[in-house]
Amino acid sequence: MKFHIQTWGCQMNDHDGERLAGLLAAQGYESVATSEEADLVLLNTCSIREKAVHKVYSELGRLRMEKEQRPLLIGVTGCLAQQEQAALFKRAPQIDFVLGTMALKQLPSLVEQAMEGKKRLMDTNEYPDNHLFPPEVARRRSTAKALVTITEGCNHACTYCIVPTTRGVERSRPWQDIVAEVKGLVARGWKEVELLGQNVNSFAGGCTFAELLDRVAEVDGLEWIRFTTSHPMNFTEALAKTLVTNPKVAPFLHLPVQSGSNTVLRRMRREYTIEQYLERLGYLGEGKAKLCLSTDFIVGFPGETDDDFEDTMKVLETVRYDTSFSFIYSPRPGTASLRLKDDLPMAVKGERLKRLQARQAELSFESNKRFIGRDVKARIESHGTGEDGFWLARTGEWKVVHLATGPGRELPFGELVDLRITDASPHFLAAELV
Ligand code: 5AD
Ligand code: SF4
Repeated sequence: MKFHIQTWGCQMNDHDGERLAGLLAAQGYESVATSEEADLVLLNTCSIREKAVHKVYSELGRLRMEKEQRPLLIGVTGCLAQQEQAALFKRAPQIDFVLGTMALKQLPSLVEQAMEGKKRLMDTNEYPDNHLFPPEVARRRSTAKALVTITEGCNHACTYCIVPTTRGVERSRPWQDIVAEVKGLVARGWKEVELLGQNVNSFAGGCTFAELLDRVAEVDGLEWIRFTTSHPMNFTEALAKTLVTNPKVAPFLHLPVQSGSNTVLRRMRREYTIEQYLERLGYLGEGKAKLCLSTDFIVGFPGETDDDFEDTMKVLETVRYDTSFSFIYSPRPGTASLRLKDDLPMAVKGERLKRLQARQAELSFESNKRFIGRDVKARIESHGTGEDGFWLARTGEWKVVHLATGPGRELPFGELVDLRITDASPHFLAAELV
């Protein structure tokens, strides 16, 4: 049995894909790189925006044609599976089974039943131990950075967001399990971990998130810890202190703001005003200068006026984010924002997004230019495409570095190298080895 897993969406979903791969590998199944070689294709889906959902349906269409040519099992998991459940079979009868986000461990049993010829299998139950996966199960794809889930689910109720529906209420792993997993990872060669949760800040596995960072940082041989993602209302002074003082915590903070307008924030049910958000960033104090900051914006939320959007542009200027991710509001099934009047033309939303992204590109360029001439450490993440001696690395601040070494020079994947930044573009830094 050969399987191929295709994953969309966030790091949480990536890591679920790694766990699912581990579960199948434990059955003796072999992972293959493309769906064409596979007997089983698992679509590990995302439903955060409509576009993500379109991608899944278009892949399902392609797989239907493959399935007409040869025996092929198709499973759907991830957020779209949890959201749509049995409705998926109606829309795409070529699907053999549907596996929810809180039932991952049921995969081998579903595959076995599907192999016996059973049709339309589904398990979208909420298993209370879904987040307590034995650490050794996951088959990690990257040798540079290991993804480690610390919490699943979300207890906030942002009116635009599908995640509380698709990932359930928040559950934390015990901190001891997390430290043990990181120790095991370091023993197997990883030197960087990224702690994952829909809202890592509200971690409640026997200590606070700030304490968890300090405890993980004590693991000998570990070099950097990253984390994603954070709700501003759970961003504490203690966490800010750990972030700026603990040398193993990478100097990068992603703190989604979504909008700069208090009216819009209220309608999004974000639980903070823009003043409170900025106050929390202020917890970083002087240490902020050494960090890179990132955020998410939603543009064109129902009822967003020109003035509301100007408030968002103002936040961009005030904070001067090093990078940001911005999206046009996408109505999601079952969310509270569907009840809000959304009569802003798409063209206006598109213009706003373009303006925000253009200004961010300038700010990112400025942020990158500040690195020129600096000596930094960066981790080798991959070999670039095409030419010899072209590598991609990441700094602690999450900057992408293009590194040209000339042909024939092998650099160690996953290791830190000393670099001098020689040039900058809006999206990456160029460097040489020192
Ligand atoms: N429409 C557009 N963007 C969304 N996000 C979440 N839900 C939606 C939606 N319905 C964005 C938010 C979040 C990021 C992961 O995706 O900015 O922080
Ligand atoms: Fe997509 Fe959100 Fe699910 Fe991640 S948690 S896969 S971003 S819908």
